[in-house]
Amino acid sequence: MRTILPFTILAAILSGANAIHLLGRVNPSNQELTWPGTGISFSFTGTTATIHLNTITGTNSAELTTDGIATIIPNINTTSITTPANLTHGTHTITLRKRSEALYGSLTIGNITTDGTLIPDAPPSRKIEVIGDSITVGYGLDGTLPCTNSAALENNPKTYAALSAQALKADYSIIAWSGIGLTRNYVSTTPDPSPVMPVRWTRYGANDADDSYTFPKAAVPDVVVINLGTNDFSYLGVREPLNATVYTDAMVEFVGVVNKHYPDATFFLVTSPMLSDAYPEGQAQKYTQTSALKAAIEVLGGMEVKVHLVEWPTQGSDVGCDYHPNAATHAVEAEVLADAIAEVMSW
Ligand SMILES: *[C@@H]1O[C@H](CO)[C@@H](O)[C@H](O)[C@H]1NC(C)=O
Ligand SMILES: *[C@@H]1O[C@H](CO)[C@@H](O)[C@H](O)[C@H]1NC(C)=O
Ligand SMILES: *[C@@H]1O[C@H](CO)[C@@H](O)[C@H](O)[C@H]1NC(C)=O
Ligand SMILES: *[C@@H]1O[C@H](CO)[C@@H](O)[C@H](O)[C@H]1NC(C)=O
Repeated sequence: MRTILPFTILAAILSGANAIHLLGRVNPSNQELTWPGTGISFSFTGTTATIHLNTITGTNSAELTTDGIATIIPNINTTSITTPANLTHGTHTITLRKRSEALYGSLTIGNITTDGTLIPDAPPSRKIEVIGDSITVGYGLDGTLPCTNSAALENNPKTYAALSAQALKADYSIIAWSGIGLTRNYVSTTPDPSPVMPVRWTRYGANDADDSYTFPKAAVPDVVVINLGTNDFSYLGVREPLNATVYTDAMVEFVGVVNKHYPDATFFLVTSPMLSDAYPEGQAQKYTQTSALKAAIEVLGGMEVKVHLVEWPTQGSDVGCDYHPNAATHAVEAEVLADAIAEVMSW
């Protein structure tokens, strides 16, 4: 007589290994993909697998990667996503990630079905969390100025954030929202009631209640990258230029809060490729932001927070929608960030 363990028990016994991994900040109780880059990954032995979607709100773009080959789904409009029809029988690794951000829509992952069996595997042990605005979302990345951004033109998997994490063989979680700031959001003539990042960062799903995130131990990052300020600096014709001291103080406070949740994390503060010293004239915004971040790092160093500056040059004239960094700029930025993290972390 032999005993057959149900698959779920077997999977639990294989320590650290699970058959299905939620990627990024995803609440396992509802499996809703909100933040850009969130998704699911698994391996199976067989010829086909299907990811069922329970709910789809708004418009969502995703990337399905099968054994390293990516297929773009510009607009998810079916209730399931199936692997390519030509897979041969064998073991295949599947990743589905959102390319677009929560302000366009969300997806709820349902069951995974396959003609074969799911294979437990262990996720990478290195973890990076990247906190940012439209640059980190991948807003307009697939467009060429002039263009109107859409879920289909956002491309989170091609952002500096995703590429640097991949180069470092790290799991990554991206907490990003277009137009968001550290102290104030993108300049607009009508009041913008949406929360700034220190508030939105406390949410599990991007549209959940404030303070809903539970900081599960398994998701605590080794590295936190913060790329905020581009929107804070916008002002022309509507409001006063940003007070750099207010920005420095807010960065010190926010990093302090994040560090309380992740006491062992090392922080990397990134300068904006969209700020320049030439425009608006007389503002030296690039210099001002860089100096303000250096000032924050000095204060944080005194608080024994491990924190580093990563300087990116102002981008060139080839840009995506609304002057956002394009794929080439993101690829260059990814190398600069990955090199900085590799050196500090000995990764
Ligand atoms: C679904 O989206 C695809 C592109 O991803 C498009 O070709 C197809 O026409 C759409 N189908 C419906 C029913 O909208
Ligand atoms: C399956 O088809 C896709 C495109 O339709 C192709 O990129 C891929 O290489 C094919 N895979 C195999 C195993 O033939
Ligand atoms: C998903 O799997 C559960 C557990 O096996 C099952 O009860 C449920 O009916 C499945 N849902 C769908 C939509 O197939
Ligand atoms: C900038 O903010 C600091 C700190 O809140 C304040 O002391 C200072 O007066 C402000 N400077 C200007 C020019 O408003």
